[in-house]
Amino acid sequence: MDSDNRRARALTDNITQPAGRHVVPNSGCTVQASIAMKDVEKVSPTRWNSSSAAIQKIKITKLSHMRYCHPSSGMEALVSFMLDFGMEVVKRTDNAIWFGGYGIDQYVYYAEIGNEKMFLGGSWEVESWEDLKRASSLGGSPIVELTDAPGGGYMTSIQDPEGFPVNFIYDVTPRLHPTKQQAEPLQVNDEFLKPRKGAFQRFQPGPAAVHKLGHFGLTIHDFELQFDWYTRHFNLVPSDILYAQDDSGVKSDVAAFLHIDRGKDYVDHHSFFFSVAKTQHVHHSSFEVHDYDSQNMGHYWLKQKGYRRVWGLGRHKLGSQIFDYWWDPNGFMVEHYIDGDLVNEDTPVGRQPAGDESLAVWSEPVPATFLD
Ligand SMILES: [Fe+2]
Repeated sequence: MDSDNRRARALTDNITQPAGRHVVPNSGCTVQASIAMKDVEKVSPTRWNSSSAAIQKIKITKLSHMRYCHPSSGMEALVSFMLDFGMEVVKRTDNAIWFGGYGIDQYVYYAEIGNEKMFLGGSWEVESWEDLKRASSLGGSPIVELTDAPGGGYMTSIQDPEGFPVNFIYDVTPRLHPTKQQAEPLQVNDEFLKPRKGAFQRFQPGPAAVHKLGHFGLTIHDFELQFDWYTRHFNLVPSDILYAQDDSGVKSDVAAFLHIDRGKDYVDHHSFFFSVAKTQHVHHSSFEVHDYDSQNMGHYWLKQKGYRRVWGLGRHKLGSQIFDYWWDPNGFMVEHYIDGDLVNEDTPVGRQPAGDESLAVWSEPVPATFLD
């Protein structure tokens, strides 16, 4: 080794191995589910199919829209917030407002105008009239025609075992096309690959336009009761389950992320979740936006308008979404997300310990208000 090489070697050694301190830089990459979940306990399908063999499940095709009641005194503040959150007012009557995204759903958020705030449930689109009738029978609730709603259709509203409203809809005419053109993905130059040559990144600040409803979640009391009901009657199956362990080592499941089982078709990692907590309430509903820049511009737009942030931005571990949580003016939590995982019937289902570290790969520490 000549002296130049020796000097270079000494310099490199100095940079990479300072005495007494070894720090591994962060990294991240996309890996197949089988590799990502290599060391994770797997859940057998008997966990959610054991009691359902004799029951014909009600087939859900998608999560369509959320339904909430807001006090009339808070309605104008809600409209302002939703516009700044990236939704549009599709229709307004004396009794309700339908807010839309730019996807093919006629609306993604229904706000009833009432005396007090109330959660009115997520709304699942079902595959057939028969499925709607079965949902109606399950809850002993009538099927009503949605005469005022954009796209029409029929709905039945039932209750889950803990009394949360659950809606099923059928025969809603979707939009023919998204109302916004699909944007060309940004060309991103990293340290080695630089596909963008002689072209520049340019942006227009504003709200992050909402594409569609992605998922919503509940805090509940009885995990087994809710898990059994949702997986026994509907084609909802877990993507991930979280457990708590007591001092004697006994594990109890306390949270589940569920997807709509469409066989080999890939679907969102979760359209629905529930988690055991001290109080029962809707936790949040989450809406998809275009990409990281639009999400960040939406974040700073909301911040600049003075709205109350909950948590974000950050990246979730389970589902992989980059999240951004906000309070609406009447105290319901809503989320912008991008880059969620897709799963199908071949994707392994994992069971892991519940804990703050399972919530995010990177972010600020999770605030107490998120966990309430
Ligand atoms: Fe979420």
